[in-house]
Amino acid sequence: MMLSEYTRLINERLKKAIECKNSKYKGLYDAMAYSLNAGGKRIRPVLVLEFCRMTGRDFHAAIPAACAIEMLHTYSLIHDDLPCMDNDDLRRGLPTNHKVFGECNAVLAGDALLTEAFYQISSSELADIVKARCIMVLSEAAGLNGMCGGQYLDTNYDDELSEEDIITINTLKTGALLKAACMMGVICAEGTDEQLNAASVFGDNIGRAFQIRDDVLDVVGNSEQLGKSIGSDSKDKKINYMSLYGEEYCLALIEKLTCNAKDAVRQSFSDTSIVFDLADSLAYRKN
Ligand code: IPE
Ligand code: IPE
Ligand code: MG
Ligand code: MG
Ligand code: MG
Repeated sequence: MMLSEYTRLINERLKKAIECKNSKYKGLYDAMAYSLNAGGKRIRPVLVLEFCRMTGRDFHAAIPAACAIEMLHTYSLIHDDLPCMDNDDLRRGLPTNHKVFGECNAVLAGDALLTEAFYQISSSELADIVKARCIMVLSEAAGLNGMCGGQYLDTNYDDELSEEDIITINTLKTGALLKAACMMGVICAEGTDEQLNAASVFGDNIGRAFQIRDDVLDVVGNSEQLGKSIGSDSKDKKINYMSLYGEEYCLALIEKLTCNAKDAVRQSFSDTSIVFDLADSLAYRKN
């Protein structure tokens, strides 16, 4: 299975996954579908499917969990772009959700995508125990002790952030969801505790590397290629790895975290070549 085939399948399923049952709120549906179907790299759902396959089950079983995490991630982007957060105009190559639908509808589209994510899992044909474990992992990763907590720290910063603080921010705001993606793949395939732990360490490491790369690209990247505005994460003297330590340090760290990620899964899965290639491509990505 090529990663591009996973992506094609995810895009197809996401298009079908939400439907508007009442024309009175078609505007809300349109706002949700606008951001969800705008593209995006689909890294998180690809990780769900590939970890399911690596754990020994047909990856199709994990499609509901894969769609769920992409919906949840899309919600986080819509809210992250709002004027009260990063105030950005461009996302996934298009004007941001609030620019097109207004702030109120962008907030609602995010809320509805977040909620729909859990409906995808709970209404799926997965075994009850698998649903419950996916919901636990995803809700923990998205909430107070995960992405929301990280977004709080990221937006309520002071000038005195230490390297440890930045690691915490990266781990929570971005690492948590990537880690949950890998773990949900293993859970959908009912893997062992050892495999779950390995997936968790892999996801945590590529997640941290992913955010450092994001901060690097925010400075040295190309807005057209990225599909989002640049300079946004360093405005208002915002502090991150890139602004504190510069590109060279960041690239070395990304490499180290990518190595750590690979080391974590080598023993627990027999066929890691696809996730290794994915980890490398994320480390050097340009978008
Ligand atoms: C952007 O995530 C937000 C971060 C966590 C850095 P992605 O880079 O995965 O965005 P899409 O899904 O491809 O648009
Ligand atoms: C976002 O971090 C992490 C989220 C949880 C959305 P950024 O604010 O750096 O993401 P981009 O650069 O807007 O995609
Ligand atoms: Mg942000
Ligand atoms: Mg942002
Ligand atoms: Mg960024």
